[in-house]
Amino acid sequence: MTEKLVVAIDGPAGAGKSTISKKIANALKLEYIDTGAMYRALTLKVLEEGIDINDVDKILDILAKTSITFNDNHIYLDGVRVDKEIRENRINLHVSNIAKIKEVRREMVKIQRKLSHVSNVIMDGRDIGTVVLPNANFKFFITASVEERANRRYKELLSKGEKNVNYEQILKEIKERDRIDSTREFAPLKKAKDAYEIDTTNMTICEVVDKIINIIEGR
Ligand code: DC
Repeated sequence: MTEKLVVAIDGPAGAGKSTISKKIANALKLEYIDTGAMYRALTLKVLEEGIDINDVDKILDILAKTSITFNDNHIYLDGVRVDKEIRENRINLHVSNIAKIKEVRREMVKIQRKLSHVSNVIMDGRDIGTVVLPNANFKFFITASVEERANRRYKELLSKGEKNVNYEQILKEIKERDRIDSTREFAPLKKAKDAYEIDTTNMTICEVVDKIINIIEGR
């Protein structure tokens, strides 16, 4: 492979984008960039600093003083590894509200584009094919029914040993994130015109990964 390869993966929460992207990155030797993790890291900082989630000026001020970096598939907030912290439920509850701020998106997109220049990449998020990397070689829009996505998240939490997991509550939270992500004014979740759409409701992770690799390799 001599030409640079850029793959964009978009879709709603819980569709399996990150699991699928990591496997494809491994198989095709691509750098994996999880853009949702960047919005999550900023949300973590905002919560830790006790900033009001609706205070846009303060959020932008803190963003300007914050470093969000990746190393070896781990995410660092001001030099501290925060892979686990950014997956906590308090982050799930607030991240969509941080991600809908126009100026936050502008800064994140700048960083994401820079990261895409470094090597062959697979980047996942909500606006990768439409806004961040409109010239990506391949774009995929990964979906699944909202019930199936809630079910996957439910099983994942149970397998992590979490107590008090409630399917109805998870379903409600995913519907709310879908609503905010799809209806926000700037860069809403949307399938790019030239993206392949894959509904994974009745597919295994392996089947989805194979399908995408086959498309990329032109089989
Ligand atoms: O993919 P995720 O669940 O980690 O994303 C966390 C949040 O960030 C989600 O509410 C959507 C938002 N997001 C976004 O707006 N744009 C991206 N490129 C990636 C994530």
